[in-house]
Amino acid sequence: MSNTSGNKQRESFGSKFGIIAATAGSAIGLGNIWRFPYVAGENGGGAFLLIYLGFVLLIGLPVMLSELTIGKAAQRNPFGAFRILRPGEKWFLIGLMGIVAAFMINAFYTVVAGWTLEYLLKALTNQFSNKSATEISELFSSFQQTGWRPVVWTLIFIVLTATIVIAGIEKGIEKYTKILMPLLFVMIIILCIRAVTLPNSLEGLKFLFKPDFSKISNKAILEALGQAFFSLSVGMGTLITYGSYIKKKENVSSSATSVVITDTLIAVLAGVAIFPAVFSFGISPASGPDLVFQTLPNIFSQMNGGYIFGLMFFFLLIVAALTSTISILEVVVVYLVEELKMNRKKATILASLGIAFLAVFCSLSLYNVPEIAIGGKSLFGILDYTSSNILLPLGGFLIVLFVAWFMGVGKLKDEISAGGKYNVSLFGLYLFLIRFVAPLAIAAVFLYGIGLLKF
Ligand code: PFF
Repeated sequence: MSNTSGNKQRESFGSKFGIIAATAGSAIGLGNIWRFPYVAGENGGGAFLLIYLGFVLLIGLPVMLSELTIGKAAQRNPFGAFRILRPGEKWFLIGLMGIVAAFMINAFYTVVAGWTLEYLLKALTNQFSNKSATEISELFSSFQQTGWRPVVWTLIFIVLTATIVIAGIEKGIEKYTKILMPLLFVMIIILCIRAVTLPNSLEGLKFLFKPDFSKISNKAILEALGQAFFSLSVGMGTLITYGSYIKKKENVSSSATSVVITDTLIAVLAGVAIFPAVFSFGISPASGPDLVFQTLPNIFSQMNGGYIFGLMFFFLLIVAALTSTISILEVVVVYLVEELKMNRKKATILASLGIAFLAVFCSLSLYNVPEIAIGGKSLFGILDYTSSNILLPLGGFLIVLFVAWFMGVGKLKDEISAGGKYNVSLFGLYLFLIRFVAPLAIAAVFLYGIGLLKF
């Protein structure tokens, strides 16, 4: 899948399964297992989930298909793709916005990925067993209080990502993700089973599945939209980049559908594993970014084989996070390689240094140096909030407008059906969604979320 130079022939995914594995690898990650539970927990649970599912289906899926199609049509990085498809117009700015988003997301994402490395080590050294919920909570705070430890893990994760991207061995990694991601899926199901058999688990299931719309604020709706974009990896060109590695003859709509279903299922299952435990162990669902790290070790400490299980779980979570950070870094690297004619190694090192710089401040801002804040919000919080809730929806809005109104319906249909090879009976519905539903809904949610629109 790697691309060594803009001049050489581009590589592409070898099979449909390769496309799904790579796209799902990007989509499935900390967004499902760490971010979804914490954001749903802060926004009241059930009603949030329902709105989230609506956004995934009506907005996320059409945006994903649109991104893959742009990439496949242009066979270029996001910046170059818009210049090929609409030369002389300003659409390429979407590509630049995506690069900014990629830096912001990778900066806080690698911080949390760093925590998973620490937790793998904790699992390995058997630090969860026979601990009370309070002691497990203290494990997290004493880890954070060191200040330097989370920073070091973050930097290690950035180096890990960069090493893989430099080597251009994502293709090799795909081979493993094909086995490891299904394994992660099985582990989450087992976790769910343990979680729902904990005392008081019903409270957690009610929290997640019983909608209470009185808990929904303007902000919650905007955050549901942001979470849908974040979890599906859409709105910043990651999937334009991956789409550019898809051969003309492939079926993008069925790949997009499979990825959306899998990604959403994993997020919901993560919720089923986490919320019963949250209520069972007396943790606040609105704990914020540390929710999952406070909760999961309790489940491991309360299950047979918890040692091995915890170890495998954190290992798989790291792999899931890695396939996501690779895809985010790839956006920046391919731009530097194709547009600025840099070599792959130099491009990766440069981008990673930028990310590392931001990530260090991001890590410290959360628990150690609260002065690294703007308007009372930590740098971590700001990057997390603005990238997901503002940049990605804005990118998605422009991407669907572009595909719906500027790419040409004939060309669009031709790309999606691969020259008439695939059935496109739902094409009319897709066109309706990207022409009207998605852009209007994104605009409304956005204006409503920032308080400019009231119902
Ligand atoms: N979708 C990833 C996750 O859920 O962990 C995060 C992500 C990857 C966001 C790639 C955006 C992106 F472009």
